[in-house]
Amino acid sequence: MKMERPLNTFMMFMAVLVMLLSAYLVNKSAIENNVSAEYVSDLNLNGARLSDGVYATVKKNSETRGAVGYDTEYEFLITNIGDTTMSNWKIGLTVPTGTVIKNSWDAAINPHLDKNNIVFTPEYYNIDIHSYEAISFGILLNTPEPFSPDFLRFVGYEIVDAKKDLVGPFIIAGIIVWAVVFVGYWVTKFNLRNYKERQQNDVKIILQSMNTFISFIDAKDPYTRGHSKRVAMYAAEIAKRMKLSEDEVQNIYYAGLLHDSGKISIPDAVLNKPGKLTHEERKLIQNHTIAGGKMLKQLSSIRGIRETALYHHERYDGTGYPEGLRGEAIPLYARIVGVADSYDAMSSNRVYRRHLNKDEIIEEIQKGSGSQFDPEIVKYMVDMINDGYVNVVKMETADNEDGSNKFHLTESDIPGVYMGY
Ligand SMILES: [Fe+2]
Repeated sequence: MKMERPLNTFMMFMAVLVMLLSAYLVNKSAIENNVSAEYVSDLNLNGARLSDGVYATVKKNSETRGAVGYDTEYEFLITNIGDTTMSNWKIGLTVPTGTVIKNSWDAAINPHLDKNNIVFTPEYYNIDIHSYEAISFGILLNTPEPFSPDFLRFVGYEIVDAKKDLVGPFIIAGIIVWAVVFVGYWVTKFNLRNYKERQQNDVKIILQSMNTFISFIDAKDPYTRGHSKRVAMYAAEIAKRMKLSEDEVQNIYYAGLLHDSGKISIPDAVLNKPGKLTHEERKLIQNHTIAGGKMLKQLSSIRGIRETALYHHERYDGTGYPEGLRGEAIPLYARIVGVADSYDAMSSNRVYRRHLNKDEIIEEIQKGSGSQFDPEIVKYMVDMINDGYVNVVKMETADNEDGSNKFHLTESDIPGVYMGY
């Protein structure tokens, strides 16, 4: 099945190529063999021009009465006034019955009499009458009565001038364009497929490396296992709804995955402490932002990773940590991840509380709009809750009564994350 389309395209290409080649060869053969439209014209000999191709005049040089009938000498001039060469021509002249050809001269015309019609045909060397050239010839006729010819019938073939032949170059150009488009299409398609495969492979490697790393964090803090992946998913979905580019969505997903990397620096006893935290312990936990920023400094090839780890706990009103940045001064990725992070915290069980329900979450998030969160981003998050997106990415951790929080989803379940996933 997979081969069918390429095969059809190839067959279509061959068919068009054969058609163009045939047209070209027929055209070429026609030019080479002078096979062109037959030209027929009645030429008025009284000075009136009838045709745009050939013009003729006749001059009666003498007329004498002989022993039998009249001897009359005529001088004909045939001029090609068209743009094309006339070839393989012959001329017909109707004469009275009983006419005899006594003599002929010039232009090596071969007149022969057929009943009451004289046919003039050229010798080989004046078979062609070129554009704006003329031939002349004379004839001495004996006619029973005085005779003045008033028209000739000219029959010839117009030769297509190779220089004026646009059909040939047009067909050749058509073949070249078609071949270039065809080859270009396949080369581009092939390169694009290779590029996409490589890109998908790169994404896979990056994700596997990041997931390996966050499994260390999960091992330290089993109660929030899966948190990073969920935050990444929500953040990517927000970015997608904000109509950010595919690359940005992908980067925000990465940033979401690694936003809590600094947690690895928090002592286990503090991280998993069920009771109330002391001021120092809270400081230690808050320090995961600075630690994360330092750890991820070297991951500069992916935009926004370090800033997100460093600033995802900043608040829109400037009362967050570690630097107290306010509003748009907080990097966009960090603002998005901040909302996604809070949503996941509210929708997951914690050591000290059970998750909030949907309405409570919406209320909390809206309460934080403009103070904790960027109001624009809040709108998207609330939409995602209301339109059921968060049900798409099931909340197992929120619903397990036994406190287990298995995370069943894989990257292939992630809606809105690109590059093959
Ligand atoms: Fe955090």
